[in-house]
Amino acid sequence: MSAACFAEMGNNVVCVDVNPKVVETLRSGKVHIYEPGLEDMVRRNAAQGRLVFTTSLADGLEKARVVFITVGTPCREDGSCDLRFVHQVAREIGQHMKDPKIVVDKSTVPVGTADQVRAIVAEELAKRGMDIDFDVVSNPEFLKEGDAVNDFMKPDRVVLGTDNAESAEVMRSLYAPFARSREKLIVMGVRSAEMTKYAANCMLATKISFINEISNICEKVGADVRDVRLGIGSDHRIGYHFIYPGVGYGGSCFPKDVKALITTALESGHTPSLLQSVDAVNDAQKFTVARKIENYFADQGGVEGKTLALWGLAFKANTDDIREAPSLVTIRHLTERGMRVKAFDPVAGPNTRKALEGNDLVEIVDEQYAALEGANALAVVTEWNQFRKPDFDRIKATLSAPIVFDGRNLYSPEEMAASGFAYFSVGRQAKKA
Ligand code: UDX
Repeated sequence: MSAACFAEMGNNVVCVDVNPKVVETLRSGKVHIYEPGLEDMVRRNAAQGRLVFTTSLADGLEKARVVFITVGTPCREDGSCDLRFVHQVAREIGQHMKDPKIVVDKSTVPVGTADQVRAIVAEELAKRGMDIDFDVVSNPEFLKEGDAVNDFMKPDRVVLGTDNAESAEVMRSLYAPFARSREKLIVMGVRSAEMTKYAANCMLATKISFINEISNICEKVGADVRDVRLGIGSDHRIGYHFIYPGVGYGGSCFPKDVKALITTALESGHTPSLLQSVDAVNDAQKFTVARKIENYFADQGGVEGKTLALWGLAFKANTDDIREAPSLVTIRHLTERGMRVKAFDPVAGPNTRKALEGNDLVEIVDEQYAALEGANALAVVTEWNQFRKPDFDRIKATLSAPIVFDGRNLYSPEEMAASGFAYFSVGRQAKKA
């Protein structure tokens, strides 16, 4: 993503990946992830020679002034961040560097990682008896999957963590065409930049867990979270964004980053009670659709032997990413209790098939309405546009009974009640006419 966008602005970019298959795929003009707009950009820039792909880090380093580390930082079982790949790349950079470089940490990494990268590069240079000037800059990314090209091309801000004036200037000029105004380029200390990324994601995750908690209380006390959201969002200090209740946040960032900051805090001697609650509220929220389904069928012999139609597998719309997806929690919980699930997603079907391999109670179908055949109820778990205005008559005619569990508040409780559906959404109830 970063490479394609930098090339789009006229920079020459060499992309290095250890996996020859990935390099081959990219060379053939294909992108191995689903991200609107990215493939076109890759093809265009590759065709014009500004974007090239290689498995050789030495070749990649040769002409580069700035070297970005963009490898994955997976989450370990205990919630800490696995920096193996970052360290490995740092080591190789130190082994192959021949002239001064600015090494940039773009991967989301715990505070202190830039210092580790610096130490590793220096250690490798020392082994070679070389004394080459280099700096390590922290430049976290704030891209949303599904809208990443736009976020990169028109960022709200670019955070640059460095204490070196020359590096700051090089990075500023690299990002100036994207940021367009100097105020959007925020230069700070390396550790503050690393912390900013976690603080931003944790703040957003906090907003989501907050509104999910409020929606659960709304359900208990007969309030409607639609009105509450409007009522609080109108205060500009709160704002309307990121306070949509739902099935809990998923994806590759929020769950991992909240857990990683909790680990960092604990290691530093601080107990982050708020973040621990944000995480716990989210874990619980992912079960809410499954719980509502279980409750509904409790007096009909339970969910065992019943079939659920499920629309939406991706952790959010416009992506094929199912990492930490609430759909998986829903499916696993219900199939463990003997329910069958017929699921559909516009793009995440193949990834889900792989993730749930061996679970015979799950069938992934290729068409939205085919999921409804022989099903006792429908659950909607991802907010794809094509689920927003479905053919309700067809849903009613195909399901064995008109029951809809909506984890994304896509439909109107009033209209669903008027059309004879048993309808369960998040923190809302049908208002009396
Ligand atoms: C997020 C950040 O937005 C981005 O800045 C950062 O760089 C990476 O992490 P992403 O994970 O792609 O991006 O998705 P985002 O659109 O932020 O949604 C995250 C999750 O929160 C999704 O599961 C989404 O459904 C959920 N969400 C979001 C809500 O439940 N309610 C909301 O109001 C907003």
